[in-house]
Amino acid sequence: MKSINVKTSHPYEVIIERGSISKCGEYISKITSSRKAVVITDDIVGGLYGDTVLSSLKNSGFECTMFAFHNGEQSKCLSVFGEITDYLCKAGITRSDIIIALGGGVVGDITGFAAATYLRGVDFVQIPTTLLSQVDSSVGGKTAIDITGGKNLVGAFKQPALVICDSDTLKSLPAETLADGMAEVIKYGMIKNGSFFELLESHDLDSVDEIMDEIVYTCVDIKREVVEHDEFDRGERMILNFGHTLGHALEAWHNYTDYTHGMGVAAGMCMITDRLAPADISERLRKCVESYRLPTGTDIPMKELLPFCSKDKKREYGEISYIVCKTIGKADIVKVAVEEFSRLMEG
Ligand code: GLY
Repeated sequence: MKSINVKTSHPYEVIIERGSISKCGEYISKITSSRKAVVITDDIVGGLYGDTVLSSLKNSGFECTMFAFHNGEQSKCLSVFGEITDYLCKAGITRSDIIIALGGGVVGDITGFAAATYLRGVDFVQIPTTLLSQVDSSVGGKTAIDITGGKNLVGAFKQPALVICDSDTLKSLPAETLADGMAEVIKYGMIKNGSFFELLESHDLDSVDEIMDEIVYTCVDIKREVVEHDEFDRGERMILNFGHTLGHALEAWHNYTDYTHGMGVAAGMCMITDRLAPADISERLRKCVESYRLPTGTDIPMKELLPFCSKDKKREYGEISYIVCKTIGKADIVKVAVEEFSRLMEG
């Protein structure tokens, strides 16, 4: 078992251990004196791991029930948020009880937001079951739901009380879902750790399971460092958005349907690197992205993507911040006028 302590305003531990889902009750009983919990999940993950989690909790003395909503991004909305909070209320969850998010990014984000707001805040535990959620969304305390105006536009910072990452759960994922998470993994190598990027270059999507524990550990540790320096996303944390400005634009252009977040991040990282970094860096990134079966660009004309970039959350007072890696392992945050960003991208 490996563990990482995240020293934010509310410090917590991230446990990284194969098989840890079946021991979650034991781990959770150490961080709360309550013995009452609700597990929030989706219909797919609930079917795969719901019984294991509930029986581990019951064996550790918890009174617990589970609420499962329909899987998919379309559930990260106000009406499902309402169903979750109604469920918490009917289950008699009080401020001293515990809420458990079991699933990928959608489950973690909406459950975290419910935990941040129900009774003005209840402790919650993240049990992420996708690569993307283990290496990114479960750590750092960003919680949110989508509204008509855009993704993640209503949310709160709420650090979890504990994160339990079981990389055995990644074995049940379809190859495309694993690839989706690999985009964020490659991002960590690019922004902070050149030797980790080399490790990724020496593997591909078929052989990546061999190094999965190291991947999860290294990415969570990088995220820990960044989040500890800038918990509330006012500066350095922006480097985690490498590839995301164009990536979000691609996702939005596709109407969040057939184009995943990881595909957007992969293409977005390559597109910005092609334009603003030396050719050898761009070539290495492209090769690495290709070996994890992710896109390195798009045929959509830049002028159709740019209007979506100017809706980016990192835009303020007519300026936009983008992230560029001119060497592997180091990221710079560059703030420019929106028109200058358009000129750079169209060039
Ligand atoms: N996913 C980016 C962040 O946590 O800041």
